[in-house]
Amino acid sequence: MNEKTSRIPKFYKRTIQERTQVVQEWAKLSHKQINQLANGGLTPEQADKMIENTIGLFNMPFAIATNFRINSKDYLLPMVIEEPSVVAAISNAARLFREGGGFQTSSDEPIMIGQIQILDIPNFNTAIEQINKNKQQLLKEANTVGGSIVKRGGGAIDIELRPFPNTQLGNMLIVHLLYDTRDAMGANAINTAVEYIAPYLEKITGGRVNLRILSNLTDKRKAYAEGVIPAQALANRSMSGEEVVRSIVEAGIFAEVDPYRAATHNKGIMNGIDAVIIATGNDWRAIEAGAHAYAARGGSYTSLTHWWQDEDGNLRGRIELPLAVGIVGGATRVHPLAQLSLQILGVKSARELAEIIAAAGLAQNLAAIRALATDGIQQGHMRMHARQLAVAAGAKDENVLQIAETMIQEGNIRLERAKQLVIQLQGENS
Ligand code: MEV
Repeated sequence: MNEKTSRIPKFYKRTIQERTQVVQEWAKLSHKQINQLANGGLTPEQADKMIENTIGLFNMPFAIATNFRINSKDYLLPMVIEEPSVVAAISNAARLFREGGGFQTSSDEPIMIGQIQILDIPNFNTAIEQINKNKQQLLKEANTVGGSIVKRGGGAIDIELRPFPNTQLGNMLIVHLLYDTRDAMGANAINTAVEYIAPYLEKITGGRVNLRILSNLTDKRKAYAEGVIPAQALANRSMSGEEVVRSIVEAGIFAEVDPYRAATHNKGIMNGIDAVIIATGNDWRAIEAGAHAYAARGGSYTSLTHWWQDEDGNLRGRIELPLAVGIVGGATRVHPLAQLSLQILGVKSARELAEIIAAAGLAQNLAAIRALATDGIQQGHMRMHARQLAVAAGAKDENVLQIAETMIQEGNIRLERAKQLVIQLQGENS
């Protein structure tokens, strides 16, 4: 039973050391891990083993989103992102969902798709028959190279065929090898398996295999999150809760019907998703590719979320998207901060991680469309922008907030003004 609460009021007002201490206690981090957090985690030597031609390291802010409650369990979310306001906004949105009892999530089994392209097939129908007839043998072959995934109970489980007759290349047959990757993202295992069975497929079809690679449209491996926000929790100074619910539903429908809006709407969702994906050492390009391909599955690019008003007048939201993430293998294993992120999350399976990430996407979306449907997002952004200008103008740490607030109140958020205020404060303190 987890009785820890992720509801940590005014977390943002604490110092870096105070916040780190909260997380240290939360996740039982070691001193070594605390040091890794402070210096970025990765050494140049480790980096050199990850990719080619390494010349250094590139640090990003590592933050914690608070208030998440998912399936009656509290989580702190590690987020790696360079964009201001995202972490504050998602924490705030998670607090709103919390008022409705938190998120309910679910996910599919971790089934990935490996694709094999077969061309120059002498007899299309016979080839299809042959593959179906030899299916069990093909799966068995694929699993001889499955390694640790097969040992953990995963591996190739089925074959699906996608015939593309009369393409400009003639008849083309695409074989989908369905592969259960358990707690891994599984790219290596699938690519190994499809490469391994390709010659066997050539033999039984008489065709020629060209590409052998996984698909990033992992639509058999989706995660789902849903939640409710009581209407009164959405009221602000100028709008009632009901009005905010209506505006948010209107914003959601805008994204459902218009691809121009859907692109921006989904970008906001990916702000939350990518930040956790990066923090946990997962492949964010793969997640992005899958999410956008899924958003376009009906032929017209649309929203990854759906928002509606329920029969009690409250706001409900739901997200559904492919989320092929792992908690073993790849960068999750190599990068010390990825390990640390998984420890903060306390996840036991890749599916649990995928579900948390889906909830993050839904929360980030709520934060964005709530701001857009009420005050607009510039207000929050300008606050952070003002702080950044104060830093750029040379303000000392203790003066940054004061200078930013002065500029906001004056409605004059410019570098020149920040510089004047720095000089003014220096004069007062000398
Ligand atoms: C900015 O990074 C993300 C937003 O544009 C998302 C949205 O418009 O929904 C605020």
